[in-house]
This record gives sequence, C-alpha cells and structure tokens, in this order.
Amino acid sequence: SVFKIAGICGSLRKDSFNKKLLLRTQQLCSEHIKGATIEIIDWSQVPIYNQDLESNPPQSVLDFKNSLADHDAIIISTPEYNYSIPGPLKNAIDWASRPVGDRGQVFAGKAVAIIGSGPGSGPGSSGSGRAQFVLRKSLVFLDMVPVNKPLITITDAGHAFNEDGSLVNKHFENNIIKVLQNLVKLGKQLKIDPE
Ligand code: FNR
Repeated sequence: SVFKIAGICGSLRKDSFNKKLLLRTQQLCSEHIKGATIEIIDWSQVPIYNQDLESNPPQSVLDFKNSLADHDAIIISTPEYNYSIPGPLKNAIDWASRPVGDRGQVFAGKAVAIIGSGPGSGPGSSGSGRAQFVLRKSLVFLDMVPVNKPLITITDAGHAFNEDGSLVNKHFENNIIKVLQNLVKLGKQLKIDPE
C-alpha cells in the first residue's frame, strides 16, 4: 500500500519560499521515492485557538485533524519568525493536539521530517534552522519521531530556486531525497503504542 505523507507549509504567504520548497519536495518524492506520496494539507482556515471552542470545534479544525489522521507521516516546511516558528503554525498544531482525551492522536507514533528556508544570506542566517529546533521540541512532546539528518536549512531563498521550481544547489535536492527515504524507512519501522 502507498505510504502517505502529509505536507504542511508553515507559511500562509502566497509566494512563500517554504511553499516552493514543499512543492519541490513533493515532486522529488514522486520522482524518487517508490510507494510514497506527499499530499499538501490546507490548514489556512484554522481559527485562533480558544479552549472554550474545544468542546465544539470548528469544521476547519476537524478537517485538519482528519487529514493528519489519514496520513502515515508528516513533513513540515517552516520559516523562522523571530527565532521561532510562525504563530499560525503553532496555533494549528495546538488545535490538532486537542482535546486532551485524544491528545496527539493524530501525531503520536508517526515519523516527521522538518525542513525549511529563509531569504537571509548574511552571517547569522539560519535558513529556518532555529525554528526547526523549536518545532522539533513540540513534535517530540506529541510523541512524534523526527528524522534528524540530513538538515535542510536553505539560506538565500530568493536565489535558491530555478524558474521551474527546482533547487539551484543539487546538494540540497539530494539531501531532500535522503530525508524522504529516511522518513519512509523510519515511519514503516515505528511500532509505538500511543499514550
Ligand atoms: C521574519 N523573518 C525572519 N527570518 C529569519 O531568518 N529569522 C527570523 O527570526 C525572522 N523573523 C521574522 C519574523 C516575522 C514576523 C516575519 C514576518 C519574518 C523573515 C522570513 O524568513 C521571511 O519573511 C520568509 O520569506 C518567510 O517565509 P516564507 O513566507 O517565504 O515561506
């Protein structure tokens, strides 16, 4: 059967570099990873979290949770906002992790890969690496198992893509393929009983 990966972009921006990276990753998956697909999940309608809404969650939240539940693994392409992850992405993860009765059910026991990019190219530009570090912490708490290497931290994102959406630096393309191979391998091995 097909190994289904949910693709999540941490940015809602139309011309997002991280969306470009996720789309290229999706293409590399279909070209290089036999038996696996990436479906990009639209979570843009998830509202601001309020625990008062939890007992009767909005349909957009149920749809988001259902689509995560329907996948074997997750890949997240995130920008860095103020050395952390974007508030909207954290908000969506918080929603999907609730209520506590089925806490993390859509996350627990699944493999996850985190990738990202940023436009900065000077000293201190992390290519979203610091955000990836923060995101990993929450996902590990939700009992996900991350692919640790290779790192996909793409700096100078404004110059990183060719017109056709491929990456100028083939080293990154090869490493994205390795991340996907590791994600599928890891995901197929996991036999964790969720809490
Ligand atoms: C940023 N940006 C940014 N970049 C970075 O490398 N480190 C950072 O801490 C921040 N902080 C930050 C905060 C906020 C509120 C915004 C809006 C932006 C710049 C960011 O990397 C840039 O806007 C990217 O283009 C965002 O990713 P997408 O939308 O292109 O995927």
